[in-house]
Amino acid sequence: MSKHRVLLIGAGDMGSHHARAWNVLGHELHTVIDLNPERAEAMAEKYDVKRVLTGDYDYQVGIEQVDIVDICVPLEFHAPLTIYAAEHGKHVFCEKPIARTFKEIQAMQQATERANVKFGIGFQRNLAAGVAQLRDWATEGVFGHPMVFSSDLLQEVRPKRFMHDRNSNNGPIVDACCHYFLLWQTVFRSRPKTVYARGGIIAKSRQEISHFEQLALDTAVITIEFESNDIGAMTVSWGLEKDFRLPSRPDRIIGPHGGAEAVSTENFNWDLQLYHNGGQSLHKLPQGDLFEEEIRAFVEAVDGVREAPFYGIEQGKQMLALSLAVIESIDTGRPVDVNYNFDF
Ligand SMILES: NC(=O)c1ccc[n+]([C@@H]2O[C@H](COP(=O)([O-])OP(=O)(O)OC[C@H]3O[C@@H](n4cnc5c(N)ncnc54)[C@H](O)[C@@H]3O)[C@@H](O)[C@H]2O)c1
Repeated sequence: MSKHRVLLIGAGDMGSHHARAWNVLGHELHTVIDLNPERAEAMAEKYDVKRVLTGDYDYQVGIEQVDIVDICVPLEFHAPLTIYAAEHGKHVFCEKPIARTFKEIQAMQQATERANVKFGIGFQRNLAAGVAQLRDWATEGVFGHPMVFSSDLLQEVRPKRFMHDRNSNNGPIVDACCHYFLLWQTVFRSRPKTVYARGGIIAKSRQEISHFEQLALDTAVITIEFESNDIGAMTVSWGLEKDFRLPSRPDRIIGPHGGAEAVSTENFNWDLQLYHNGGQSLHKLPQGDLFEEEIRAFVEAVDGVREAPFYGIEQGKQMLALSLAVIESIDTGRPVDVNYNFDF
């Protein structure tokens, strides 16, 4: 694996995970950019970063002398920063979700293709060994058909306010559900077909997010039917009261012959409790560093060891298509067929 020089934009939570992974894998974190000087400087000190840009920084300077740009900032910056980096001949690794609209994705795709640079996206959760194990059991028919995969995510109003902004990360349906949609799609090995969802904004009266021009939907009940007739279902809310304590229920899959439940361990890994043939057993699974794995796979793509990164524009686009179908179903009150034509 070649050694790469990286510009990291965004030294927050995800930026910290990525920085650790670049470092462990032996690449050089050359430049860090963040609006927040303390964060950028703390990261620079930890990883011996040569150049730190904060406040009114200059992208042109930031991009010099690096060959990879890693984007860990709110969603409205994903498309413009990807395009800027690609136009300067840099490979791009970007946190999920990919972008706000198909139009933005199209511009990102055109820019990266024109510059012949790689684009990778941070769907690290899907690299957990539990996902592959569930997919294998599902394929072997351990659960039978059809299967129902149910997930839920119940949280208080997010302390990162941009996550509630309709014009930024656009609430959990865009920001968080993409992880679950990709998980279901991977386990069922099938494409989502029809979405039905109900939802709304239950945290409307909360002061801390009242300044946004448009609030994102914060709560939904979502059902997705796959071409295989399997079903993914979830309840999601980011509208709950401060210090809300009821934990989310573990992910579960059931079918006519059995089921399984995720037992969360650390850093997005899980073990699995299998219910089959009238008994149950705990399956301990390898616990990888998923951030290292995603970045290793991306670098292999950059180096030409693999044809494409594990997750890229295509998966980002598919997950946005699903999120937009969920929002359309909530808005219209009707089931919506997922639009895969990507009519920009
Ligand atoms: N893959 C995952 O599991 C996962 C989990 C959480 C968040 N995310 C995604 O990662 C992205 C970042 O989220 P986070 O949780 O790290 O947020 P965060 O608030 O912890 O960090 C974001 C950082 O970006 C900085 N920033 C904001 N705008 C900037 C700009 N224009 N230029 C430079 N710096 C800027 C902020 O000062 C902050 O330090 C989001 O797209 C989010 O959806 C992914």
